Amino acid sequence: MSLPQPGIFAEGSQSHFFLEFQLLDGVGDGALHTAVAAAITALQPLDGRQLHVLWAFGSDCWARLSPLRPAGLKAFTAVGEGATQAPASQRSILLWLHGNDPSTQLDAAIAATEQLAAVASLAVEVKGFVYHDSRDLSGFIDGTENPKGEGRQKVALIADGQVGAGGSFVLSQQWQHQLKAFRALPQQEQEKVIGRSKPDSVELDAEHMPSNAHVSRSDVKIDGRPQKLYRRSVPYGGVQQHGLYFLAFSGEIERYDHILASMFGQTEDRIVDRLTEFSRPLSGSYWFAPSAAELSELATH
Ligand code: HEM
Repeated sequence: MSLPQPGIFAEGSQSHFFLEFQLLDGVGDGALHTAVAAAITALQPLDGRQLHVLWAFGSDCWARLSPLRPAGLKAFTAVGEGATQAPASQRSILLWLHGNDPSTQLDAAIAATEQLAAVASLAVEVKGFVYHDSRDLSGFIDGTENPKGEGRQKVALIADGQVGAGGSFVLSQQWQHQLKAFRALPQQEQEKVIGRSKPDSVELDAEHMPSNAHVSRSDVKIDGRPQKLYRRSVPYGGVQQHGLYFLAFSGEIERYDHILASMFGQTEDRIVDRLTEFSRPLSGSYWFAPSAAELSELATH
């Protein structure tokens, strides 16, 4: 069995750090390989000890680093129109650091950024945290329908026998909340926006579940096959600016396309997820997180 990067599945981290890097213009393949190898190597001694590390790459960057072509890997493109659009901001390299020691995470982030500096600039850095009992800042528990135990690997990883086995397709989106209007809604109305009860995250029954609730829009079946994701999103920010850094893992990239189409009014019913009245994505990238073995190979360049 091809083993994944363990950072995907390490749970219980209270502190998260997401860094997105953009390749500089005119960088040669040799310099890119050298810098990526140095950055991966710099964090290896810490990984699984003081923090968890996940490396993932945008399709253009990956094509320059490896001959491996996971099925369907592509850049993220915008979904939807006008005010309800999920914009694209495809970057080149994603680094997700998580654990319970923000100091070590910052040290690791600085070290990686320095190793990559000759070939890529840091475009986005978002610090995330666990809010109460794993709630989004809306106050709703996030992650209830996530797969559990071994089911997580089944959902998140490219299956053995396929190109990129043990790797994963990743979607990241930084969402910004405007929760004043949401908080002003009675709890019952808030529950209709999400599709679950607020205190204990019980799914509304079919009779009370609106077709524009987030659960209705994100629980998608295609030809009878549920489009399941393993979500690792966490909230970020403070009083003035805050939201959710959405991060998910899937064995097939198309699952994201189907769910986003359903959330952003691109299915036959044209219904838009009501969540978008209170929160909007500022960014969007698809990534490939190679297996542990593929990552080690990059590091030994
Ligand atoms: C601001 C952005 C978002 C917030 C606050 C949010 C929050 C939530 C909450 C509270 C739930 C219900 C509890 C649970 O099962 O985890 C949920 C479910 C879910 N969300 Fe989101 N979500 C956001 C964006 C997204 C995006 C962008 C996607 C996919 C591209 C997504 C996919 C899902 C899926 C697949 C479920 C489980 C549905 C089911 O099978 O019941 N969410 N989300």
